[in-house]
Parts: sequence; C-alpha cells; structure tokens
Amino acid sequence: MKLIITPDYDELSRRGAALMADLIASKPDAAVILATGETPMGMYRELAAIRQRSGLDTSRLRVFQLDAYLGLGPDDPRSLYGWMKRSFLDPMQIPDTNVVRLPGDAPDPRAVCAAYEQAVEAAGGIDLSVLGLGPNGHLGFNEPPAEPRSPSRVIDLTEESIESNARYWGGRDRVPRQALTAGMSVLLASRHVLLVASGERKAGILQRALQGPVTPQVPASYLQQAPRLTVIADQDAAALLRRYS
Ligand code: F6R
Repeated sequence: MKLIITPDYDELSRRGAALMADLIASKPDAAVILATGETPMGMYRELAAIRQRSGLDTSRLRVFQLDAYLGLGPDDPRSLYGWMKRSFLDPMQIPDTNVVRLPGDAPDPRAVCAAYEQAVEAAGGIDLSVLGLGPNGHLGFNEPPAEPRSPSRVIDLTEESIESNARYWGGRDRVPRQALTAGMSVLLASRHVLLVASGERKAGILQRALQGPVTPQVPASYLQQAPRLTVIADQDAAALLRRYS
C-alpha cells in the first residue's frame, strides 16, 4: 500500500488528479471505475484543469459506473450516473459509447449486473478504481457485511447510508432504499485502487479500514489485500492512523 497524507483537501485533489493523469498518459484507453460522492470531486476538477492546460486526451477512457440507485433513470438529476456525467464524463469529453452504466431503471436489475461483469471481463479487467470511503466502510454500495467475492448486485442500503445520503435528497424519507453496485470482487480485482478520504468524519473508519482486522463488517478493510492500493488522505482523515498517534 502506498499512503499519501496531504495537508488539506486541495492537495489531496491535486495528488489524485496527477495520479489519474499519469495513468491516462500511459494508457489513454484505460478502463476505470469512478466513484461519485463528494471526496473525488476536487480531483475530477483538477483533472479537467490538467486536460485544459496540457491537452491530455481523456476522451478515450473507458468508464464503468460504480453504483446507482435502483429505480432512477440516467436523466434523473439525482441519479449517480447524472452526477458522474456532470462531474467527469462531460468535462473529460467522454462519449456515452465509452461508458458502461449500471442502469438503475432497467426492468431486470439482476441481468444488468451480470452484463456489467461481462463488460468488465471483455474490457480485460479494470485498470484503476477510484473509490471513496463510506462512513460505515462501504465501497461503492457494498454495504457491510460484504464478502470479498461478492458480485455486482442489487443491495439494500443500510440505515447509516440512508442517513448520510439524506442531505442530497432533502430528507431521509426520500432516499431510495436499494441500489446497484459493482461487486467487491470487481473492485478488488482492479489492477490499481485509489482510495480517497477527507475530513475528520472519516478518521475512525479509515483507521479501521487500513489498520484494523480484515472483515466483512468493514468492506474497505479488504483493500489491505488488493494487488495495488494507493490511499490519499488529508491530515484530518489520517489523524487516527497509528503512525500518527
Ligand atoms: C459514490 C459511492 C460511495 C462514496 C462514499 C463516500 O459513488 O460509491 O461509496 O464514495 O459514500 O462518499 P463521500 O465522498 O461523499 O464521503
């Protein structure tokens, strides 16, 4: 594991964007899984700025959606696909044909999860998964308990995730109760995982994920066994990591 601790969120975003830019420069058609959520947004903005400045061609990336709420179509502004489109696909000029969605509105969600896994395989696996860290240790919507071999699937959101997403929905009653997620098996097989964590509220769970027991109760703890893991955390998120105490 490579652990990078930055003084603040802006530097986290710059370091993350630089890592992504290096990958894209060496493999312009890299297959990537991309988290939405707040943490990677600064990094995506930085990457867009790098693209503007240097002419880096980001348009050939093959993008796989990480997760989706069940029942929301791509045009619903609340959908995670819509968020990914606004924050990443459009600024990086990635055509829809380069994107493998997890369509939350598909009539047969199980079938689309299987098709998603086939698409990952057809792409030759994932070069980079960019992941945020859920307050309960989830990766994507792999809610605890999650086994490392769990496939891409429909999942019931935990109370904690419903609570933490309520701010995006105008109240917890409006948060969808189910989601589709890329499975732990897909994420853990990625050739490289970049985990980003920012802020005090992630300090406890980051410590458990990186230094605690590897357990389904903290899905992110399986990253300790990932083939290649880079963690970029700002000082607040890294505050409880042992070498810092
Ligand atoms: C988002 C996602 C989630 C978030 C996690 C952290 O697509 O899959 O797992 O990465 O909940 O969210 P933030 O970054 O908002 O703290």
